[in-house]
Amino acid sequence: MSIIDPAIAVQRLPRHIAIVMDGNGRWAEARHRPRSFGHHEGVKAVRATVEACIRRHVPTLTLFAFSSENWKRPQEEVGTLMELFMKAIDREVDELVANGVALRFVGDRSAFAPALRERMDHSECKRPAQTRLNLNIAANYGGRWDIVQAARCIAAGVARGDIDADTIDESLFDAHVSLADLPPLDLFIRTGGEHRVSNFLLWQLAYAELWFSDVLWPDFDAAALDAALADYARRERRYGRTGQQLRHPA
Ligand code: FPP
Repeated sequence: MSIIDPAIAVQRLPRHIAIVMDGNGRWAEARHRPRSFGHHEGVKAVRATVEACIRRHVPTLTLFAFSSENWKRPQEEVGTLMELFMKAIDREVDELVANGVALRFVGDRSAFAPALRERMDHSECKRPAQTRLNLNIAANYGGRWDIVQAARCIAAGVARGDIDADTIDESLFDAHVSLADLPPLDLFIRTGGEHRVSNFLLWQLAYAELWFSDVLWPDFDAAALDAALADYARRERRYGRTGQQLRHPA
């Protein structure tokens, strides 16, 4: 049974959730299985979470699949993850698109093998007839990289004469970071018990609500998502104002 009150959900659902899917390795180690087993089981949790977001009418989901720092992992584990991404794309994309999922990859994909890059490009070209969920997969992504690529893009605009340096402000920057065309990030979730953001969506996190869960990613499911949604629905988002101002707008 769902623990989310549907009456609250309609009014106070996040329009954009981002998740750091942590805990695959520990989940596998607890079962005396290789870490790769945890990553494979993690794909099932991805599927469950995507389905739950569609059913609850959350329009945007961004998943941290591979950080720019994850290259430091043992080569074997990096290889497993690359193979997993390729297989997941081959297996899942057509069904995702048929179910109204618009897929996008964010991050510096130049470091990936050509075969993976091609799959990413092709799957982004497959657009659903009607979009029910924007699913963004952050791969070789880092929040600092994102800010730097926005700065480079703006600097190039200034050099070309398209942007007047005096007009550079937060809204211009906002328009140049990843996912600028999608709803602002409302809810950040991290599983696996660690309380840090690990260089994910640093700019976009400015006013997001944070939810940390001890659940290891392969165990994350619709009920775990509902716990985060129920808590989010109770939050008062003040954006610097007082609670009084929110309740009695001038
Ligand atoms: C972090 O857990 C998880 C990752 C670095 C990989 C995430 C990948 C998946 C969930 C599977 C594939 C995803 C897609 C989108 C197809 P960890 O390995 O750091 O776990 P630990 O903290 O327990 O060691």
